[in-house]
Amino acid sequence: MNKKVFVFLLCLIVIFVFSGIILAQGKKGKAAAGGKAVPATGAAVWDYLKKEGYSTKWKMWPKTTEMYPGPEPHGAFLTTYVNDPALKAITGKRGKFPDGAIIAQDNYSKNKKLKFISVMYKVKGYNAQDGDWFWAQYKPDGRIESEGKVDECIKCHAAQKSNDYVYTSKLK
Ligand code: HEC
Repeated sequence: MNKKVFVFLLCLIVIFVFSGIILAQGKKGKAAAGGKAVPATGAAVWDYLKKEGYSTKWKMWPKTTEMYPGPEPHGAFLTTYVNDPALKAITGKRGKFPDGAIIAQDNYSKNKKLKFISVMYKVKGYNAQDGDWFWAQYKPDGRIESEGKVDECIKCHAAQKSNDYVYTSKLK
């Protein structure tokens, strides 16, 4: 084969491989950002959190640290993680979370044992009258304690309705 043709073909292959990688990454980003990409079910959200590695890869809620002392009912110590869309809403003081925002909070007992993971996931059109949040609570092994439009979660968090149902910091 002519050397020039060979180099040309090699370049084509490299371009194909790289554009494949870039496309794949683009898809990953979309899955995290859109409410439709991750179905609002306990199982799908848990799979997604595990796949994302939320507790190693996500940022903590701004101005919180690992294992900060927490008020009841969630646990004596808490670590609260947020995905990118949620983080932007908090730092940008946007007043509300966008579609696809996820908050995942590790709830620890007094002796710092992980007891539950409490999750809020914003899904546009899911439950407009209560802020479009999907609620879920898991045992550390992923067993679902509660999920969906959970009355108990909504009743208490509704005290923060003007703050898009969250307690940890002001969104405005
Ligand atoms: C009796 C009131 C009460 C109930 C019931 C309750 N929460 Fe909370 N939740 C709080 C308070 C207070 C905070 C802030 C302190 C903390 O993080 O524990 C909070 C924080 C959170 C956070 C971190 C985001 C934020 O609001 O600042 C998540 C996620 C969460 N709760 C999920 C849930 C889920 C899921 C349920 C239902 C299974 C639930 N909560 C039930 C009072 C409650």
